[in-house]
Amino acid sequence: MAIYYQEENRIFQLHTKRSTYLIGMTPEGYVGHIYYGERLFQRADHYLLRMGEIPFTPSVNKREKLSFLDSFPMEYPTGGIGDFRESCLNVKNEKGQMGSELFYVSHRIYEGKEKLADLPASFGNGEEVQTLEIVLEDGILNLQAVLSYSVFEKEDVIARSVRIVNRGKETLRLEKVFSACLDMDNEAFEMINLCGSWARERHIQRGAVRYGKQAVSSLRGESGHQEHPFMALVTPGTDQQQGKVYAMHFVYSGNFLAQVEMNQFDSVRMVMGINPEQFDWVLSPGEDFQAPEVILTYSGEGLGRMSRNFHDFYRSHMIRSIYNHKKRPILINNWEATYFKFDHEKLLEIAREAKKCGIEMLVMDDGWFGKRNTDDNSLGDWVVNEEKLKGGLKKLVDQVNEIGLEFGIWFEPEMVSPDSDLYRAHPDWALQIDKREGTMGRNQYVLDLSRADVVDYVYESVAKILRSANIRYVKWDMNRFLTDLGSARLDAAHHGELFHRYVLGVYELQERLVREFPELLLENCASGGGRFDPGMLYYSPQIWCSDDTDAIERLMIQEGTGLIYPLAAMGAHVSDCPNHIVGRITPFETRGYVALAGTFGYELDITKLPDEQREMICEQTKMYHKYNDLVREGDYYRIASYRENHKFDAWAVASKDKREVLMTYVQVLAEPNKRSRKIYLQGFDKEALYLLEGTKQVYSGEMLMYAGFLIEPMEGDFVSRPYHFVKKESDDR
Ligand code: DGJ
Repeated sequence: MAIYYQEENRIFQLHTKRSTYLIGMTPEGYVGHIYYGERLFQRADHYLLRMGEIPFTPSVNKREKLSFLDSFPMEYPTGGIGDFRESCLNVKNEKGQMGSELFYVSHRIYEGKEKLADLPASFGNGEEVQTLEIVLEDGILNLQAVLSYSVFEKEDVIARSVRIVNRGKETLRLEKVFSACLDMDNEAFEMINLCGSWARERHIQRGAVRYGKQAVSSLRGESGHQEHPFMALVTPGTDQQQGKVYAMHFVYSGNFLAQVEMNQFDSVRMVMGINPEQFDWVLSPGEDFQAPEVILTYSGEGLGRMSRNFHDFYRSHMIRSIYNHKKRPILINNWEATYFKFDHEKLLEIAREAKKCGIEMLVMDDGWFGKRNTDDNSLGDWVVNEEKLKGGLKKLVDQVNEIGLEFGIWFEPEMVSPDSDLYRAHPDWALQIDKREGTMGRNQYVLDLSRADVVDYVYESVAKILRSANIRYVKWDMNRFLTDLGSARLDAAHHGELFHRYVLGVYELQERLVREFPELLLENCASGGGRFDPGMLYYSPQIWCSDDTDAIERLMIQEGTGLIYPLAAMGAHVSDCPNHIVGRITPFETRGYVALAGTFGYELDITKLPDEQREMICEQTKMYHKYNDLVREGDYYRIASYRENHKFDAWAVASKDKREVLMTYVQVLAEPNKRSRKIYLQGFDKEALYLLEGTKQVYSGEMLMYAGFLIEPMEGDFVSRPYHFVKKESDDR
């Protein structure tokens, strides 16, 4: 049993393998946070709620209720009554007065986990997860908040969410509904988050938590390239192997806010949820509002354990695709090879050459529909351009299949070009504000996916194409942010719902797609990695990491992404040189080793490559087959970070049984007059011996981890090498 309720002192104990979370109550029924951290085994106590200290609880000292509310560690704080820290719930009554107060009413503990209505969320059966629901109530508003905690023991994860129910007769307005809150005493915390930009997504950032508020957020209608719906608080000195880590990750693909706040009493409040800016939800009598889920994990063994918790959790309890535990076909995508300039023959040429090197799928990217030869037209007109693809799509797909490759296709379903038949027929289907010229992004507008008729049209136009030929893969792109938040369908009272309704529309589309085409390999993408979030993982087992395919830029992008996401979720390809984004020239081998740490594929014109590079592709595709099971299913260890040391990068993947470890080392910049470099490996069985493949050298796991491993000097910048260690069975020692 992961969840216990101690009746006599009204404490909920939530236990995972290595962590414990304690929730307590005051005599009045305020629900407070007692503890989160190392696994506890004895009877729990609630002295950490400080109920005996001034200002006492309101039933003992009503005079100082305000001071109580201003300092009590709330499990789900509300705004307007006296807690001046960031609240999780702001509700307005019919008169426009904002304020609510929540008290314990009841709870329920059950095996398994129920679905969240219309939202992506983690899942598990009765043996994998147990759920606690605590019902809190505001008796004045007749409003309930149902706090849900699903405890995944094995992965050290608690999935939290909240449902708000209007049980009264008044129409209420929700101006803020966060999904999780963690009130803790400060431990000189530092905050870790992921920041960046287009082509520079998810770089790791770390800094001290200071008095006041520090936040990361998005208001772009997607999770965004710039900031990521993730936040971790760590104790000083935390590294890959030691230190306390409290991490939250949001299962949502729209506007978010993640914030830490340190207050006058040195307590720290960490919150996460839908960004309250431009959010205003009308909750009529009898209705409820489901807030998305936050994935919470604690690691007492540094960031490495946190990463492995998230990786295991997402692989077991978030990704539904049948490809989750399967090798994905090695694909070649024509975007960087041809951009818009391709036709039937060119694609077949690529396919023929790709087949010779062991590539297994051709993906036709942007430019196959309408009259699209540039980015200023045709989005929305999902009709094959027969001038480019003579004889139609089916003919092309059949011919590619005959060559021996599978076929994949690109869509950007959420968008419309002003120069399109769709826009000419339905200008009101685009998001727009009355009388205002829409703000263009990449020459396009965003469709109003809060409308059921638009969702139906978009779905049918994509599904029709997929039904028309043997298409095994879809790259679902989204190349601009949301602006001009006006819908022709929503009335004034409901316009504050538009951002969230849009996200629900995207989820509905993708849900329909994976239901009708369960064998389709779906890869989400948003102008590179602009919508890389756990919400998308629920629909697609992989997400395009970044438009920056340069191997060295990818070191930082993939380090940040791998901090939370399993490697097999990261779309990564070998591309051409000089790199199209940064102009850097890197060895073909290094591009291969870096892409092997993701889904692996190619994004170049193979027909123009010199023979020796084609031969390298043959080697790389063999290597993919050799290592992909390990990379996809194994435990990830970050060994060294180029971002931190500015010289080299290294990571390793160990099989769960520690029978093999693959470590990849990249020397980013060569240094003169240096000896071999000692690095400390991780992931080995310390009592076992390992053979370094390709040599006769045998190492003990303990020496590799504690005494170190020597990297022989390498010549040149951007050079790299994989090291594959295989455990020696005791009888061949
Ligand atoms: C942005 C994506 O990230 C690229 O890979 C490519 O598909 C282009 N869009 C096509 O427009």
